[in-house]
Amino acid sequence: MDPFSRHIDYLRISVTDRCNERCLYCMPVNYPGWTQRNDHLTADEIVSIVACAADHGFRKFRLTGGEPLVRHDIVEIARRIWDLPGVQALGISTNGIRLADLALPLKQAGARSINISLDTLDPAAYQKLTGGRLQAALDGIAAAAAANFEIVKLNCVLLRGINDEQIIPLVEFGAARGMPVRFIELMPLAPGGPINDNHFFSIAEAMARLAAHDQLDPASEQAVGHGPARYFRLRHSGALVGFIGSITCADFCATCNKLRLTADGKLRPCLGRHGEIDLLPALRSNTIAASGLPQAIHQAISNKPESHTFAGGFQVRRPMPAIGG
Ligand code: 5AD
Ligand code: SF4
Repeated sequence: MDPFSRHIDYLRISVTDRCNERCLYCMPVNYPGWTQRNDHLTADEIVSIVACAADHGFRKFRLTGGEPLVRHDIVEIARRIWDLPGVQALGISTNGIRLADLALPLKQAGARSINISLDTLDPAAYQKLTGGRLQAALDGIAAAAAANFEIVKLNCVLLRGINDEQIIPLVEFGAARGMPVRFIELMPLAPGGPINDNHFFSIAEAMARLAAHDQLDPASEQAVGHGPARYFRLRHSGALVGFIGSITCADFCATCNKLRLTADGKLRPCLGRHGEIDLLPALRSNTIAASGLPQAIHQAISNKPESHTFAGGFQVRRPMPAIGG
């Protein structure tokens, strides 16, 4: 339990700050990524941390980034985590670009669920927003469907004037494939870039768009994930839709159940607060390796704030891909 009586049993693991796309709301312009290999945790280090977290009561784990699938050892990392005692659920968040090759190996390694970013179905808009090729992401989504993951979800960051006309097409695309689409409010994580507060589009507005088209009935979210999304089922089409109101939902943080592990070995209690605990000294010094980790995990849980501070003019100091989405 953290100081606000929340049960913290979910660890999101950023395995790299690198990415093969350049989403305007995520990557700072000209972000080079860390150049030193040493900046990234090794597979052994990630597995040691996860083993310790699982001993500490963590049960759910998600591999993210940056783009986790750009790591050549991602399948090995997934398999080794899944093999650890105590690990009950393993998910992966990806842009889908490399999924055509990796969906099946990741499923076989034990991944249960996969979240794929899909902000628009318009190839030109996709290219502009992500720097990538829509068709590659669609091929990845098809491969994920074929690999029979228990859950495949599509993530869309809502952006006024960029993809708000895509809400209904995306829901229909997801429904046709049995994939819930989750709409996410834009967080101010890439300041100074071309995406700013003027692009903010609330989940209330997205729900109103959908409600004009079909009826939204509250759905039980337990079946689809461990995150902060609220789910609804569209009465006529049957589509399952999730909403992540990171900014406008006053009680967004009340059910927070997670810690983040950054790709350079820091435990971060909250995305929207600067505090971090560096695990590298404990991990890389031979003497205190065994004792330092549990303490650090305990400390990170105790340090969890009641809520994020995005509304108070919060400015990121480390880019999103460095922290982990
Ligand atoms: N606001 C909201 N979500 C973001 N993501 C990245 N940047 C932002 C942002 N500024 C999330 C998206 C993407 C995942 C990798 O991280 O959901 O799908
Ligand atoms: Fe890469 Fe995901 Fe960030 Fe887009 S949102 S740049 S795909 S890490």
